[in-house]
Formats: sequence, structure tokens, C-alpha cells
Amino acid sequence: MPSHDTIIQGTDTDAAVSRMSAVDLGYLEDQYSRFFVQAPAMGAAVRRLPIINRGTYTRTTALDRLIGSFLSATDGQERQIVSLGAGTDTRAFRLFNKESQAKLIYHEVDFPTVIARKYHLVRSIPALRAVIQRPGSIDRTHTWRDEDLPDGSQYWCYGLDLRDLSKPDVTPLAGLRTDVPTLLLSECCLCYLEVTEASKVIKYFTDRISCLSSVIYEAVHPNDPFGKQMVSNLAARRIRMPTLEEYTDPSTQEARLRDAGFDSVHSLTIERIWEDWISPDEKERVDNLEGLDEVEEWSLLADHYSVSWDDVGSETDYDASFMVDSDYEPSRDSDSNGLVEQEVEEYIRASGMLKEELLDDVDDGEEKSSNADTRGPGAVFQISDFGLKAVADKTT
Ligand SMILES: C[S@@+](CC[C@H](N)C(=O)[O-])C[C@H]1O[C@@H](n2cnc3c(N)ncnc32)[C@H](O)[C@@H]1O
Repeated sequence: MPSHDTIIQGTDTDAAVSRMSAVDLGYLEDQYSRFFVQAPAMGAAVRRLPIINRGTYTRTTALDRLIGSFLSATDGQERQIVSLGAGTDTRAFRLFNKESQAKLIYHEVDFPTVIARKYHLVRSIPALRAVIQRPGSIDRTHTWRDEDLPDGSQYWCYGLDLRDLSKPDVTPLAGLRTDVPTLLLSECCLCYLEVTEASKVIKYFTDRISCLSSVIYEAVHPNDPFGKQMVSNLAARRIRMPTLEEYTDPSTQEARLRDAGFDSVHSLTIERIWEDWISPDEKERVDNLEGLDEVEEWSLLADHYSVSWDDVGSETDYDASFMVDSDYEPSRDSDSNGLVEQEVEEYIRASGMLKEELLDDVDDGEEKSSNADTRGPGAVFQISDFGLKAVADKTT
């Protein structure tokens, strides 16, 4: 039987699959997501349900905008982002691909096996290597990095159990700066730690960095019928989210950040973010991608995830009240579900080690995709899991 840590690591695969589904269908623009899922190399499509894709879209867009605000507020200065439980997240690649992101130090932390996998993919896939050009080698602390990115930027990847951060004998995050504005990001990661462990992780950074902001994406509302179903589905997969038991709604998430020393804290459900931050034009664009019949299920689902943040960690307060506009037409070109030949070849080679585990999540069509959606747990996958449950309840 896999260990609890192995199961938690598997949640990253689900997040990667959901991300690629949202990208393939035109919700999001992300040229890197496909490299972290094996499906394209097999010529198969990975497709989540419309409510899941909308969830992935809203969550990613919200976090992108908060991070964008932090980067605008710190433009011209050295600054850093620390992504806890980053998994195969592509955000660093997307940011470094933008010319405007100068002097950005991007740190990613995850278990050593997850970080090693990312390393092998980056080394082998030209499109990833074009961004992180000198990944070097993994050192004895399971760290790899490229300190020579253009415009004074750096990328650091640490293989570390976050629970070890507070242990006295653990090698600290070697590239972490304590003297620059920093954004601490947990996109469905701290929720898997015990509450005291999660607090210690945050404290590790608040103790060291005075100019600190944070963004946390997590599930909320575990005590209503939908939430109870959510918790029981997780338990069936041997997953617990201890912070969900403690921080049950946006107001307790805000109190958590306040207690950790952050001021001007905010927390909104994904539903509110969809309603308030997405412009009418953009909503129309997203609605037209697939149509959404399950409006009630969407509201229910989106009410069970929240984004919490503070906006005073940086020297300049940044304004996170904004509306996302329909400012791009995602390219749905003929290659959107495939790779150029050399990349395919290299990708297959690089991901050979991933084959077994990823095959479980690869799907060859919409009908079977509901099976993929109901399998393991995961960030957006939790959305998919419970979304499906809601749909199933209605139709049976
Ligand atoms: C649901 S995934 C989210 C991945 C990524 N943040 C995203 O949203 O795409 C959760 C990630 O947190 C990582 N994680 C959970 N507990 C951790 C711990 N104690 N130390 C390091 N990483 C951890 C898992 O390995 C996994 O990659």
C-alpha cells in the first residue's frame, strides 16, 4: 500500500492533468502544461468536466492576478516568490517567458522525488530548457537551480519535506533571500499538513523575511452536506486535509493569516472570484468554450474553495481589487494537442520514468474521463472529484 506521502505526491499529477485540460480547451494559455502530462505524447486527449475546467481557470487566473500585482508593486527591485508544494506547476516557466520579469528569484519546494522528476523533464525537453537553460545537477540536498537567468533572475528547486523546515539540523533553502520582497504561495499544499506543521512552515518565512506577502488556495466549508461529501471522498482515498478542519471558511482563513502576522488580509471563495473578478466579456468567452449546464453544481463546488491573501508584505501595498478582462484569444492551433517531432521524442524519453503513474491519469476520451476524474485526489482534482459527485447525485 502506498504511504500517505506518496498519495499526497500523486495529487500533483491530478493538478497537472486538470491544467492541461483547461489549456487544451482554451480556458487558459500555457504552452508548458502539456510537458508535464504524458497524454499528448500518446496522441490522446485529457478532458475534465466543464465545471472542473472552469474551476481550474478561475483558480489559476486569481493566483496569476495576485502574483501579477505583487510583481508590479515590486517592479525594478529584486524580489522572490516561494511556491510551497509546487509540484509540476508551470507558473515559473510562464513568468520567466515574459520579458518584463526581471530580478525575480523563483523558488519551488516539494518532496525530493517530485523535484527530481521536474529536473529530468526540464533537462530533456527543449521548450523547458529554453527557459531554464543551465539546470546544473541535483546536489546532495536535493536542490537544483539556474542562477543565471536573463535580467538577473534565478530559479531554485528544493527537494524537501516542508515539515522538516523547522528541524534544527535541516539544510536551509540555500537560495532564499531574507532582504527582498517575497511572496509565499501555497496552491493546495499546506492543506495536507497538520495545522501546527502548516503554521510552522509559514512561521519559518515570517521569522526570517520582514517584507512578506502570502497567497493560499485551499478547500473550505467542510461542514455542509457538500463539504461532508468532500471530506468523505478524500477519506476514501486515505487523504486528510487537516487545515480544512481548522480553517473552515474565508473568515477563519483570514484570521489564520492575521495570526501569522499578516495585515490587510482577504479571503474569497472561488465562486465570488468568478462573480466579482471576471469581466462580463471574459465570462462570456469562457462560457462559450464548452457551455455549462450544471450551474448549480458549479456554484456549490466553487463555494468550497478559497483564495486568501494579504497585501501589505511588500513595501508598497498593492491593489488586488481588479477585474480580469477578456484580453486574449487562446490559440487553438492544430498543434495544440501535440508536440513537434523532436519534442515528442525527447518527451517520451524523459517521461519514461513517469509512465506507470501517469498512465493512470491519461484518458482517451470524454466518456472515460469521468473515471480519471473520480480516481486520485488533487488540487483541482478535488474540485473534479466533488463536482462529479454532485453531478452523479443529481442524475441517479
Ligand atoms: C495538489 S498538489 C499541488 C501542486 C501545485 N501547487 C499546483 O497547484 O499545481 C500538492 C503538492 O504539494 C506537495 N506537498 C504536500 N505536502 C508536502 C510536504 N510536506 N513537503 C513538500 N511538498 C509537499 C505534494 O507533493 C504535491 O506536489
